[in-house]
Amino acid sequence: MNAQDTRALVESRLAVIPDFPEPGVLFRDLTPVFADGEAFHALAGALTAPFAGRFDVLAGVEARGFLLAAAASVAAGVGVLPIRKAGKLPRAVLTEAYALEYGTAALEVHEGELPPGTRVLVVDDVLATGGTVGAAARLVERAGWKVAGVSVAIELDGLGGRAALPDTFETYSLLQY
Ligand code: PRP
Ligand code: MG
Repeated sequence: MNAQDTRALVESRLAVIPDFPEPGVLFRDLTPVFADGEAFHALAGALTAPFAGRFDVLAGVEARGFLLAAAASVAAGVGVLPIRKAGKLPRAVLTEAYALEYGTAALEVHEGELPPGTRVLVVDDVLATGGTVGAAARLVERAGWKVAGVSVAIELDGLGGRAALPDTFETYSLLQY
């Protein structure tokens, strides 16, 4: 399915919830997209299409990014690298902190999980402030791999996420709000 049809299909399945998680916030919920086989399949393909031939593996960011990265990796015929919230991985890890609205959190990846120089496309559901995918991309670089790009389903324009990422990263979003 082409990007325009995918955009329309995914948008038609999105649930839009006012005042969640707090008053004044309009929350765009992808769960009905995940639950619709045609829409989910099209979305998974759309995330990798702009980077065709330019990545070796996808990285998915826990938790919602896991769903998209796993689906997109199977569709693309490549593996998936889980980037987890701190404290979950059993072997030696690299850790990157990132800012939350209140406080900080951290993401981790296993060192040595991929060969040096592996081209990793970072996948997540939403780009908001960019804290999450920024930390994921820094982990990829610190581990000795290459960031092939950043690909998300939804980009929230007003939160400065794209500007917060190094402009050497090609960043793709299917939908912008
Ligand atoms: C959400 C969302 C993105 C991130 C975007 O993750 O899934 O990963 O916020 O925000 P940012 O660009 O400002 O970092 P969150 O950790 O809240 O929840 P999840 O574990 O359900 O993915
Ligand atoms: Mg997330």
